Amino acid sequence: MNALVPVIADRFRRQFPGKPLLVVSPGRVNLIGEHTDYNEGFVMPGATDKAVVFAVAPRADGLCHFVSRDFDQEFRCEIGGFHRSPLRWPDYLQGVLDQFVKAGRRIGGISCVFGGDIPIGAGMSSSAAIEGGLAFALDSLFGLGLSKLDLVRLAQKAENEFVGVRCGIMDQFINIHGREKSVLKLDCRSLTFDYLPFEREDLRVVIADTLVRRELASSEYNVRRGQCEAGVAALRAHEPALRSLRDVTLDMLRDHRAELDPVVYRRCEYVVRENIRVGEAAVALARNDFAVFGGLMNLSHAGLRDDYQVSSPELDALVEAARRVPGVLGSRMMGAGFGGCTISLVEAGAVPEFEARVARDYEAAAGKAPKIHVVRIEAGTHAAELA
Ligand code: GLA
Repeated sequence: MNALVPVIADRFRRQFPGKPLLVVSPGRVNLIGEHTDYNEGFVMPGATDKAVVFAVAPRADGLCHFVSRDFDQEFRCEIGGFHRSPLRWPDYLQGVLDQFVKAGRRIGGISCVFGGDIPIGAGMSSSAAIEGGLAFALDSLFGLGLSKLDLVRLAQKAENEFVGVRCGIMDQFINIHGREKSVLKLDCRSLTFDYLPFEREDLRVVIADTLVRRELASSEYNVRRGQCEAGVAALRAHEPALRSLRDVTLDMLRDHRAELDPVVYRRCEYVVRENIRVGEAAVALARNDFAVFGGLMNLSHAGLRDDYQVSSPELDALVEAARRVPGVLGSRMMGAGFGGCTISLVEAGAVPEFEARVARDYEAAAGKAPKIHVVRIEAGTHAAELA
């Protein structure tokens, strides 16, 4: 059981009556396939043991009363009377309530305490964990009978419409569909997926957090989406059936290079190549060939840095430091970019040296220590019981 479950349950008991529903909602890693989801491409995420835990109970007065244990703050709103909050965290919750109301789902007031250990703003999708966890709780408390995909879409729309980030579907999808010791290979067009076993006892997934948070991430994110759309629009003049970069091949890109803005060309080339890499990574995983897998992660980072241009000096410093450690099979920036964290695939025996050397080298380069987390691949959002 997640160690935070009794902590959040206890916090609930001290403030609210009744027996709450307890929900564990994980953060995510993404092994490979970055900035491909909104281009209808492929991604390979896994849910983590780092999670947000909720204790939620219905209440009769129609009020929604939220308590953030981590910020030690409270927020109240009425169903239908939503308003953006300067505290920011309530917007992810209100966004979900708002989507349930808009979809005509009958929900009532709730008392809700939540808290977690997903580093916030680090690119591990604490926001999707909040959205998915509340969506799951509302569905279960009010007996709505929604499908997993309904929950994913409601959570994603909450972020798109209420929070205002045009995120793709990866984070909410893995939050709901995650499975212990497996990563997903998800086709973001058809939303079909395979669980790929990821359980080598001798390997670890290690997250290194730059501790740099950049507001730039969401504005530049939307700019990248626009550039991808511009590329598709230009290519569509020649290939009218084109819907997204998913349909574009390297040959097609090269044939029309002269007609594309050079920056748009680089963005598109990165996405097309990254989609190919996800396919190659899935084959490597099935063959248990982590040397090849790690090499693909390294190429992904190079593309994100040089062509998609969403890395940062701090992320590059962490990746370079990681790759100097023997036993590191691959390392790359993860998530939207500009700040946040890297993901590395590390031989279990090399983790202590990774922690020491990456911390030392990053501190020398960036003037501060990174935060390093060894994560496990765990189940998606689920209800929990007190032991
Ligand atoms: C963020 C978004 C995702 C995805 C990644 C980049 O995490 O929420 O939808 O686009 O960035 O791969």
